[in-house]
Amino acid sequence: MNAFAYRDGVLQAELVSLIDIAARFGTPCWVYSRAALETALDEFQQELRGFDALVCYAVKANSNLAVLDVFARRGAGFDIVSGGELQRVLAAGANPRQIVFSGVGKTAAEMELALRIGILCFNVESAAELERLDRIAGQLGKIAPISLRVNPDVDAGTHPYISTGLKENKFGVAYDEALALYRQAASLANLQVTGIDCHIGSQLLDPAPFSEALDKVLLLVDQLAADGIALRHIDLGGGLGIRYRDEEVPTVKAYLRPMLDKLKERQLQVLLEPGRRLVGNAGLLLTRVEYLKPGEVRNFAIVDAAMNDLARPALYGSWHDIVAVVPRQTTSSTWEIVGPVCESGDFLGRGRELALAAGDLLAILSAGAYSMAMSSNYNSRPRAPEVMVDGGAVHLVRRRETVAELYALEQRLP
Ligand code: LLP
Repeated sequence: MNAFAYRDGVLQAELVSLIDIAARFGTPCWVYSRAALETALDEFQQELRGFDALVCYAVKANSNLAVLDVFARRGAGFDIVSGGELQRVLAAGANPRQIVFSGVGKTAAEMELALRIGILCFNVESAAELERLDRIAGQLGKIAPISLRVNPDVDAGTHPYISTGLKENKFGVAYDEALALYRQAASLANLQVTGIDCHIGSQLLDPAPFSEALDKVLLLVDQLAADGIALRHIDLGGGLGIRYRDEEVPTVKAYLRPMLDKLKERQLQVLLEPGRRLVGNAGLLLTRVEYLKPGEVRNFAIVDAAMNDLARPALYGSWHDIVAVVPRQTTSSTWEIVGPVCESGDFLGRGRELALAAGDLLAILSAGAYSMAMSSNYNSRPRAPEVMVDGGAVHLVRRRETVAELYALEQRLP
């Protein structure tokens, strides 16, 4: 579904013109479509019908309360990686029994919070973490449900920064050590082994590595069963990619079917942790051209959004399509779309063919995932507001920060 389409020459978010949103909330501004979020979640949930399954949205991709609320209302669970995300999902109305806690560095305080709340599962990533969790659960008189995040050592074929399933990555426990660690976990008094987990990377465009990883994980499931350790669930992680430019993207069906076929004879609850696929194409960043600066070598269009808002191009060299809210019929030129931040890496798009004039509104597309969530206040830039469009209605779901808020926690010397 495309929630962002032109009507009468103007780009809309559902039924609302982006010109109106810019006039009302200013720029830069994040714009989300509720329908696009719901459709993306539905795709997963429909494919999983007939299975004992739970989609646990990876909160890190976009943690706005309204986004979490949309998913919680439709029965999604959540994959969290910090105490902060735990408090967020609870604030958004999540059911604690539908929360899984991932991450390599859970602190004692975070474990304690999650144990008190009674989450579904801790995805444990090391022997040291097992021991800490056992100790803290013991102190609280609780039993911690755990799965081990197993590193299946498959190459997911994605950007090295977001590939996580190789031996050389910091994530998960080594495949060859998993059995021994499971035995250790089973022997610890305050842990209950309930599942197994793997996550091999992000923005994956080929379903094959998922299936390959699952085969390896299922081999372990059988070995564990032979050892008397029966698992209740299998967590397949996230990672399914989206179209940013012209990538061939697998359907949710093409991604899930081969895996579900392998799982249908088994009595295992299926958990998934999609992030990007649920939110990535449900959001855009609305920005205005401040200045045009044509040059001998390059033409720069300086816009009011920057790398502090959307870090992905600077950080990974990622492509986001950039389109005019009201396309001009005049001849186009090639533009570097850059922000006002004092770094040469502050670009949002390079070499873009656009017909531009100062004051034009641009939409930076596919900016629902890892976009606002990774923004910063670099150059003392207040973070942009977030709005969610729902049919013809627009809800402000995070207001623009003020400059005073940026230094409110700071003090001059006495
Ligand atoms: N589960 C775990 C344990 C994860 O580490 C991640 C993402 C996910 C699920 C969700 O993956 P997704 O379905 O969104 O691919 N900042 C990068 C992406 C980092 C992904 C980190 N982990 C980017 O902007 O591309």
